[in-house]
Amino acid sequence: LCCGTNSESPPLQCKLTGNWTNDLGSNMTIGEVNEKGNFVGSYHTAVTSTMNKIQLSMLHGSQHPTNQKSQPTFGFTVNWTFSDSITVFVGQCFVDKEGREVLKTMWLLRSHVDNITNDWKATRVGTNVFTRLQLQK
Ligand code: BTN
Repeated sequence: LCCGTNSESPPLQCKLTGNWTNDLGSNMTIGEVNEKGNFVGSYHTAVTSTMNKIQLSMLHGSQHPTNQKSQPTFGFTVNWTFSDSITVFVGQCFVDKEGREVLKTMWLLRSHVDNITNDWKATRVGTNVFTRLQLQK
């Protein structure tokens, strides 16, 4: 009925809560998803578009209402503490063929520019793939 092939210890499947790492080497920790689907967490990016020293930054997100079986869509915003930029991520959690959770995301990074004529170059776009860093019970 539930949870895949390993009946002894069914893996956490597509719960956002926990520690994640992405293809750039960035790490994030997501706290409990509340009854409304909202969550907070922290993000440590491995890279920056600025000359500033990287610091841990807060994230605020929301997950689509779901039961344990599904592969939920979600979004979160990272308000970078060490720059004037904001990144929004949207994505979906999947369970791959090996039973591992993977977060497939796209992001928009909005940088601060000094005037409206520079607006055209203020937004970067990309993708990140996150896998779970540490199992949490
Ligand atoms: C900045 O450079 O102004 C803040 C840091 C931005 C890091 C970006 S967000 C999208 C991409 N994915 C990551 O894990 N880090 C970069």
